[in-house]
Amino acid sequence: MKRVYVWTLPTRLFHWLFVVLIVAAWISTEEDRWLNIHAVIGSTVGVLVMFRIVWGIIGPRYSRFGDFHLSFSALKEYLLSLLNPSRRTIGHNPAASFVMIAMLSTVVLAVFSGMLAYGIQENRGLLASLHTGFFQDMEMFEEIHEFFANLLWVLIVAHVGGVLVDRLLHKNDRTLNSIIDGYKNMEGESAALSWFQKVVAIIGVGGTIAFLAYALSTPNNPVVAGYNEKIDYAKINPVFVNECGSCHTLYPPTLLPKESWAKLMGDLSNHFGDDASLDPADQQSILAYLLAHSAETSDQEMSVKMLKTFQNRDMIAMTQTPFWKKRHKDISEEIFTSDHVKSRANCKACHSDVEQGTIEDSAIKAI
Ligand code: HEC
Ligand code: HEC
Repeated sequence: MKRVYVWTLPTRLFHWLFVVLIVAAWISTEEDRWLNIHAVIGSTVGVLVMFRIVWGIIGPRYSRFGDFHLSFSALKEYLLSLLNPSRRTIGHNPAASFVMIAMLSTVVLAVFSGMLAYGIQENRGLLASLHTGFFQDMEMFEEIHEFFANLLWVLIVAHVGGVLVDRLLHKNDRTLNSIIDGYKNMEGESAALSWFQKVVAIIGVGGTIAFLAYALSTPNNPVVAGYNEKIDYAKINPVFVNECGSCHTLYPPTLLPKESWAKLMGDLSNHFGDDASLDPADQQSILAYLLAHSAETSDQEMSVKMLKTFQNRDMIAMTQTPFWKKRHKDISEEIFTSDHVKSRANCKACHSDVEQGTIEDSAIKAI
């Protein structure tokens, strides 16, 4: 039987790099503290897909978008003749062509919306400059990103399903094997690379791997750099630090709304079962400081979300809010009561940066 070389090495490398990166991107969503790694992997997917788009324009036979079968009449004809064993396509069949284009478009949207969500919500990465303008809508961008990421999985299932169906219908074509060694058992003209295409492939594939290595190994590179300000409270307000950081974590003023601070400071003699009374001058100065830097004055994710959860709630404890409970629901009671943590209110046991006024995902300690 005749063989035809369909998928040249760069196309296959793209395919397998893409598989590895998408799986890695998905695994990296498992823990919040891996968010920066997720951002690096997502950005690398962006670089890889840029190469695939260039490859689709200047690449070899069968990999070029011009060789995809993107007409609805071809798709209809293909689906109607699906069971006809003599009906075969060397490159992407019409159904696969549509799925490929949908996957590439969805990945582009997933990467872009991810960069937007990361920039706007976390104040990090290449689009962090949009944070100030759009932080009120941070949750919407996160949801848009999740939508495209989920849509991508639907398309991946469609793609793998299509390959498996093809395997059943055309056992001897080697469609599945062709993405490993490039060859299908068919008659046709083989793909070949010009020197120009080879140069583009080396830059595209090599560049993707170099980008990943650089972004993973260089802390604070532009792809993950964060712009939330760290605050040295001991320098700015030593009284606040001495009086409010002695029994427990120094809670940043930006974590609670004005109303809660006023209420809490109005009843210090009866403070969660302790007497935290202060002399009136200190009490007034700390209250003024808390009010001037309350959650309402901050554009950080923790403040925006905390504030939202306090709406119409008369509370003074963060740990009692629905937002806090939801974010910590996967942490077991044993961890909270362990010698190391002791209390839910002991934020600094897990959030290494909380006393500098931020709660970054990357600063969450492994517990
Ligand atoms: C004498 C010790 C003491 C001092 C001083 C003290 N606190 Fe507390 N505070 C506590 C205890 C005990 C709790 C309950 C902690 C727990 O649930 O484990 C608490 C809880 C809190 C909480 C709620 C945390 C949660 O569960 O979300 C806030 C907010 C708080 N304190 C703010 C302050 C502020 C502001 C000051 C300074 C004016 C202050 N505290 C000073 C003992 C103290
Ligand atoms: C036992 C460890 C632990 C303690 C104690 C703890 N947290 Fe957390 N917190 C976590 C973990 C883990 C996450 C990430 C959860 C996830 O994966 O969704 C988290 C997430 C958060 C988030 C969301 C961060 C983001 O960017 O998505 C906020 C805000 C937060 N914690 C605030 C607090 C505050 C305030 C306290 C103290 C009152 C506190 N936490 C105490 C472990 C802890």
